[in-house]
Amino acid sequence: MKVFENIVDLQNELFEVRKEGKQVGLVPTMGALHEGHASLIERSVKENAVTVVSVFLNPTQFNDKGDLDRYPRTLEADCKLIEACGAQYVFAPTVAEMYPMPDTRQFEFPPQSTVMEGKKRPGHFNGVCQVVSRLFYIVRPNRAYFGEKDWQQIAVVKRLVDYINADVEIVECPIIRDEDGLAKSSRNSLLAADERAIAPNIYRILKASTEWQNSLTIKETHSRVIAEINAIEGLEVEYFDIVDGNTLLAVNEWADSAYIVGCITVYCGKTPIRLIDHIKYKG
Ligand code: PAF
Repeated sequence: MKVFENIVDLQNELFEVRKEGKQVGLVPTMGALHEGHASLIERSVKENAVTVVSVFLNPTQFNDKGDLDRYPRTLEADCKLIEACGAQYVFAPTVAEMYPMPDTRQFEFPPQSTVMEGKKRPGHFNGVCQVVSRLFYIVRPNRAYFGEKDWQQIAVVKRLVDYINADVEIVECPIIRDEDGLAKSSRNSLLAADERAIAPNIYRILKASTEWQNSLTIKETHSRVIAEINAIEGLEVEYFDIVDGNTLLAVNEWADSAYIVGCITVYCGKTPIRLIDHIKYKG
């Protein structure tokens, strides 16, 4: 496995790869890799002759500097995991390499980029689009792999692909959970033991709520999910939106859409650590 910090060196290598007619898979990450990332890398390795894993903690997508400062940085361990998954290349550029000058491009894809995370973290999806579009220009992958854990991000990236006419297939990979249901996330490593112990309640309650559709309205389901999670000391719901799976706009009645998803963000513990998850109700 080769590790590149430099864009031109990676591009020269990929030029040779493409000359041989080989297909390239890209797994964009911000590092602090876990089994969720491993599943994306393994899928790419299976489906492409060559896999590039980018490890870049992208500052432009953090609207909260504390969140960026706290984000775990574990490049050495990340490289071991990437190699064990069978990928050929790691692209780990510096911020100066990735952004030789400030990126002033503005990407807005309403409603997908402006609701939920878009509303709570202004500028977040703009930063995601800035870095993902750069990665697409640099790597020119045939396929790019994204985890359904960041479900809204996939909807935004698909809009980006259409907008910049990128010739890349977006491959959506299922969410990976710990045995107790907690969605795997790089931020989980920041949870203290007592916080880690209460965090699985988020998915437990979301899962239970899928059984309420016959007896409760959307409004009642919404209120009950929030009330049950907030009743657990150390958990506080930031938002819980029940939305149409395509438009990401709020749905008022179960009958109003064939594809309905509940998206949640919960603050866990004293720091607090922000955890996101979602549940499919229909579709
Ligand atoms: O999902 C992530 O880890 C990041 O948002 C991504 C896609 C790697 C862009 O920095």
